[in-house]
Amino acid sequence: MVRGPRRRRPPGLASWWRRRSLRARLTLTAGAGLAVALAGVAIVLMSALGRTLDRGLDNSARQTGQEVAALVDANRLPNPVPVAAGTAVVQVIDARGRIVAASAGADRLVPLLPAPVAAAAARSQAGVPLDGRPYGLPELLRVAAVPGRRGEIVIAAVSYDAVNDTLVTVSHALLFGTPALLLLMIWVTWLITGSTLRPITALRRGAEQITATGVPRGLPVPEARDEVHSLAVTLNDMLSRLEAAQQRQRQFVSDTAHELRSPIASIRAQLEVALDHPDSQEWGQTARDVLADTMRLARLAEDLLVLARLEERAGRPHGPGQGGPAPAPGLPGTVDMAELAAGTAGRYPQARVPVYASAPQPCPVAGDSEALRRMLVNLIDNAVRYARRRVTVAARPEGGSVLVTVTDDGPGIAAGDTERAFERFTTLDGARARRDGDAGGAGLGLAIVRATAHAHGGTAWLEDARPGLRATVRLPLASPPAEPAAPAEPAGPPGDDPASGPPAEPPPARHRADAPAGPPAGTPAERLA
Ligand SMILES: Nc1ncnc2c1ncn2[C@@H]1O[C@H](COP(=O)(O)OP(=O)(O)O)[C@@H](O)[C@H]1O
Ligand SMILES: [Mg+2]
Repeated sequence: MVRGPRRRRPPGLASWWRRRSLRARLTLTAGAGLAVALAGVAIVLMSALGRTLDRGLDNSARQTGQEVAALVDANRLPNPVPVAAGTAVVQVIDARGRIVAASAGADRLVPLLPAPVAAAAARSQAGVPLDGRPYGLPELLRVAAVPGRRGEIVIAAVSYDAVNDTLVTVSHALLFGTPALLLLMIWVTWLITGSTLRPITALRRGAEQITATGVPRGLPVPEARDEVHSLAVTLNDMLSRLEAAQQRQRQFVSDTAHELRSPIASIRAQLEVALDHPDSQEWGQTARDVLADTMRLARLAEDLLVLARLEERAGRPHGPGQGGPAPAPGLPGTVDMAELAAGTAGRYPQARVPVYASAPQPCPVAGDSEALRRMLVNLIDNAVRYARRRVTVAARPEGGSVLVTVTDDGPGIAAGDTERAFERFTTLDGARARRDGDAGGAGLGLAIVRATAHAHGGTAWLEDARPGLRATVRLPLASPPAEPAAPAEPAGPPGDDPASGPPAEPPPARHRADAPAGPPAGTPAERLA
């Protein structure tokens, strides 16, 4: 039933097999296995049964032989030799092979076994199959030989017919029963695989509906706590995440359009009014107003671009700053956050309130200095906008991290809003502050801060500074660059390679803890700009 090895497989068989459904392949494989197993069982059964029945016949023949031999030994053998029921014939031959006695109906001249064969059979005590037709006996016989004490050999033959009938009956039963059983089992396998795969079919239908309607709804989850169940749960989880992401994306696009609309409408209105009354127009003022709106648009575009880049970077499969000494791709090198904090704070000499820097120790992190600087600028801009008397920017290593904090003494944020402030386009004080002239952004500043922190393997959060607000960014500490100030550098002209390492001269602001970063002359801000 089972096709042999892959000696001469037709070329299309493999692809035919691959094109079958999973259900068909499972059923066919199970069927082939069952066929081999059933055939093996049938063969073993037949041979065991045959051997057992043979042994039974041989025993009965030998028993008759032994009884007759006992009579021979006692010299009390009647003629014809009496035979037990079921025994066909008995012959007694002497050492030279001549028949000395026989049962009724037995040949008296030709022994069933020639003397040497009879002697060998007597020694081995094994039964011998024999064709009885030449002796006028039934076709199938089983013959045993038993030695007497004076060299005679008793040959007893029994009919094999009954055993043969049994074997034929059993083999017929197996021949028809086994395939029937096999078919039944294949059918059951087909039903079982069908019911096992039904939840998968349901999943597929659900997925088809999603494709057709474009609405990511839940897929059917089977009741059984099996692999398909966990697959469905995982897929549903994925779908709901996708749906949420889709929703966020839609919201983002609509918020962006909304933010773009107001400066554009303002520019348009101002230009229309100016063109309608060109003579009474103060063109210088119009140009300044239009420029302000244009700057707002430019900043919005810039922020959106930054967010998109950060998101793209976060989508790449690497964990920046962790797991290896080299900075991850997309994070150009090691940045000293202490130096960056002092330098950035130094760029606010004319701000409403003084901006102090406190960064006494080096705080190296693996990252993109431009992105990290923008992150600090966003935090300091916010702090300066809300502070009453001062803003402090601090950086310090702590454990395996670098903590950068920007603290102000302004009104702070209600505890319930500290997470919401990080969402895109969230401005907690609404349009009020914007109208005051000191326009904030579109509410993307803190979103960029958090995205930058995440892209560098860190986190960002807001907390109450009593009074005021403290924004904290935790970044993974990078191992400090290996021995930066080698005394004699034989390499090419200085400044050749902008990425060749940190500046040899230590930044002054780092050592002035809690001093105002002050006027920019000679501060790191200039070098970093
Ligand atoms: N230092 C701060 N003190 C008080 N409120 C703040 C401070 N920083 C941020 N916020 C609030 O969080 C909101 C979101 O900040 P941000 O994302 O930077 O947006 P934007 O600066 O464009 O308004 C701000 O609108 C403001 O209401
Ligand atoms: Mg801001």
